[in-house]
Amino acid sequence: MANKTVINNSSTEKGVLQSAELYNYIMDTSVYPREHQCLKELRAITSTHPRAVMGTAPDAGQFMALLLKTINAKKTIEIGVFTGYSLLLTALTIPDDGKITAIDMNRSSYEIGLPIIDKAGVKHKINFIESEALPVLDQLLKDPENKGTFDFAFVDADKDNYANYHERVLELLKPGGIAVYDNTLWAGTVAMDESSVPESKLGSRKASIEFNKYIAGDARVQISQVPLGDGITVCRRN
Ligand SMILES: C[S@@+](CC[C@H](N)C(=O)[O-])C[C@H]1O[C@@H](n2cnc3c(N)ncnc32)[C@H](O)[C@@H]1O
Repeated sequence: MANKTVINNSSTEKGVLQSAELYNYIMDTSVYPREHQCLKELRAITSTHPRAVMGTAPDAGQFMALLLKTINAKKTIEIGVFTGYSLLLTALTIPDDGKITAIDMNRSSYEIGLPIIDKAGVKHKINFIESEALPVLDQLLKDPENKGTFDFAFVDADKDNYANYHERVLELLKPGGIAVYDNTLWAGTVAMDESSVPESKLGSRKASIEFNKYIAGDARVQISQVPLGDGITVCRRN
């Protein structure tokens, strides 16, 4: 098959599907053949990064692009950029006059992907802010022009703060706006016995379990937890 792509181990580990064959089937049939060339390039240059596993999974990204198009998102916010896979995907999907506020406390990772974002011709849509995310969100909320004006939010940063991000993101989103939270299944560990979870995953596993309960009880949003990539929770602000 012309578009057949061998997935690297990190992608397989990230997936919550318990069959690598089925995961490969989905990727090779529906995801990789439609993935923009610049996104492929961004994945390739990220693959040598020691923390390459942090990049958003292409299957989850494809679904996110579908959501962005479905709601005609134009003004978006992203918390957690890394080398920019989800950022580039968003920038390629929203209209030419769309705007993304992208926050990450580490600009050097973003700079790895920046030449490809530039080559894709979408850099003008991005306002990258190097900072801890919470103070930036609080600052944005001080301006009444930002409240209730965002179409879409993607949250993919420190899991301990997901509930804090959610409270702020809800104020930024329009009614009907969508927030997507990444890694809410945390490599499947949320459903594992604690004793069988590697120690390195315990902290974010606990945070993910707490966030999943919190969001499931939040009547201000409609939700769906989707088992794509590492698990994404999609919320629509009522
Ligand atoms: C999982 S990666 C993001 C992956 C990215 N969405 C992609 O598609 O490649 C998480 C990112 O969140 C950033 N981060 C972690 N804690 C943060 C915080 N408190 N404020 C801002 N950025 C944070 C890290 O620097 C890292 O780049």
